[in-house]
Amino acid sequence: MIYDAEARLWLLSTPSSSYAVRLGPDDAPYNAHWGRPLTIEQARTLPPDREELPAEGGERFGAASLQIRYGDAVRGVEWRHLGHDIHGEPGGGQLAIRMADRHYPLEITLHYRVRPGSDAVERWTRLRNAGTEPITILRCDSAAWTAPPREDYRMTHVVGDWGREFQLRRGPVPEAETVLTSRRGHSGHQVNPWLMIDAGDAAEDHGEVWSAALAWSGSWRMTLGRGQDGRAGWTGGFGHEGLTWRLGPGEELETPVFTGMYAPDGFGGTSRRWHDHIRRHVLPAPDRVRPVIYNSWEATEFDISETQQMELAERAAGVGVELFVMDDAWFGGRTGEHAGLGDWWPNPDRFPNGLTPLIDHVKRLGMRFGIWVEPESVNPDSDLHRAHPEWVLHQPNRARTEMREQLLLDFSRSDVAEWAHGWLDDLLTRNDISFLKWDMNRPFTEAGDDVWIPYIRNVYAVMDRLRADHPDLLIEGCASGGGRADLGMLARTDQIWTSDNTDALQRVAIQHGYTQIYPACTMGAWVTDSPNRISARLSPVRYRFHVAMAGALGIGGDLLTWSEGDLRWAAMLTEQYKQIRPIVHGGRMYRLGDCAVQYTRGPETVVFVWQPTALRRTTSPVLLKALDPDGLYRDEETGALHHGAVLMSHGLPRLLPFDTMSELVRLTQVAHS
Ligand code: GLA
Repeated sequence: MIYDAEARLWLLSTPSSSYAVRLGPDDAPYNAHWGRPLTIEQARTLPPDREELPAEGGERFGAASLQIRYGDAVRGVEWRHLGHDIHGEPGGGQLAIRMADRHYPLEITLHYRVRPGSDAVERWTRLRNAGTEPITILRCDSAAWTAPPREDYRMTHVVGDWGREFQLRRGPVPEAETVLTSRRGHSGHQVNPWLMIDAGDAAEDHGEVWSAALAWSGSWRMTLGRGQDGRAGWTGGFGHEGLTWRLGPGEELETPVFTGMYAPDGFGGTSRRWHDHIRRHVLPAPDRVRPVIYNSWEATEFDISETQQMELAERAAGVGVELFVMDDAWFGGRTGEHAGLGDWWPNPDRFPNGLTPLIDHVKRLGMRFGIWVEPESVNPDSDLHRAHPEWVLHQPNRARTEMREQLLLDFSRSDVAEWAHGWLDDLLTRNDISFLKWDMNRPFTEAGDDVWIPYIRNVYAVMDRLRADHPDLLIEGCASGGGRADLGMLARTDQIWTSDNTDALQRVAIQHGYTQIYPACTMGAWVTDSPNRISARLSPVRYRFHVAMAGALGIGGDLLTWSEGDLRWAAMLTEQYKQIRPIVHGGRMYRLGDCAVQYTRGPETVVFVWQPTALRRTTSPVLLKALDPDGLYRDEETGALHHGAVLMSHGLPRLLPFDTMSELVRLTQVAHS
């Protein structure tokens, strides 16, 4: 991190990139460069280009990152530079560029952080009202990102819905404005809060890609603009359009982090950089082994009992599961969607002696125990709602919209957050529980302006406090599947429940989208029954395992109905997964098309190949990547030896004649010839 006083230029350097910010003659901060590494001498030759955080006002007519209204109804920002602070650390550091409005008492600090060994540039904004009158914040984005001048641009992102999250889309950046947003109070199934831009010339293994992902689990907005001059850039942050924030005298508003990533080596290089960054700098416990879980939801839905859970646990232990998770319907009067959410004590009919007998049973079987919770929700038919109807998100003179027969608790209230922390802490203290599946099954409705930000901050605070007080706790983030997967959630969870769609064939595409940014160790993936309950598709147990083994493996089927043969396969594949888990979770991921993936860690490589449907069936070989061309690799199943150069240019033969067939190939480098 270097400051050049004469040029009024800051240069941030990462292993493969540089980021340069420069003050313009008007004192406003501008981006001068985001791309390949530059020296300070080279950066000095670059003029201030696009604004770092375009504010409303003057000649600016694009999407504003900052929209401010002062007490006298005047809007906008005219920049005045106050100073900066640099806190260096080996290989990284933090920069704060302190700015203010020329006339009004608004201080604006642009924050930057670079972490050792990462190509990410983390940015966020802090506003402070240094005056005596309130200021209205109509928009305060974390950052605006500028793509350098290019002939053309493409955007890459993921879209979806419940049961079909993370569908990858890549296409031209339209002229005018493109908005990606969630207005739902969670980051959303419909579009995930990240975006990639390239000049139309990037591919899996080459070309420059600029990307950014937002660390926020509530509603959000990114606006990608492409002007008449052809240039592209985007601004983003928390909150959707129309929300306002009142900043009282002396108060501050700090945005979530918006992390940018430049990669010179294509979409594959972009994904690997994100995986590395998230594993090293975002996840709270990156090195913790993600246990093989069993989850009872698809087997039981709401119809659960102690005996049935114990029987499932016995079967799960028999196939090598390490952690048994009891899903919904263990508490209060929760025998269906209609009742009980909010009453977080064991259902006395179903668990007359509490959770201890089941937990002891699970532990005697050699597994740890986990449990499902949905702390933010309440059924109107619950003791909690009868006692505290005022705790739910609601507005005077407005209906209380129910979705899945439930309402949301107003987590922006400190009494609600305290109550949630209290019972969760108690549950974890009184019982030997190692894992929480934290679900959130409906979006916000009837939420006023002031709820959206503190609600999420309080969810974060409760999770952070639980983790601090129960340091071995694992948390799985879930919102009806992958509705709340983002860097904010990943900073306090160990994995994400990727989707309620467990059809293995459809899951290949879901996993392809999820791992564009998020690492495989966080991608919860269950093997469930055949036929699948969403698609009714039949698929072999081996295929279902091979798909789930490419993430954080779980089993979610009704093991009581599985055949002896399938249970034997399950035990064998679970054992194999445990052997390859360090490679899948800690290795580097290479996509070999969209139906094959390779993970490599040191001398070890694992390749999964899944046959797509007959319509797309291909016989072309699967070409491996990033091997030592002069290396010799042993196939751990067959003992055959392969040359690295041959594997990369001629590949593995693809011998998968039918749908839902799959291969798992394990290679170990045995020599460098
Ligand atoms: C959500 C989750 C499921 C399951 C149910 C329980 O839909 O995504 O995995 O936990 O809730 O009600």
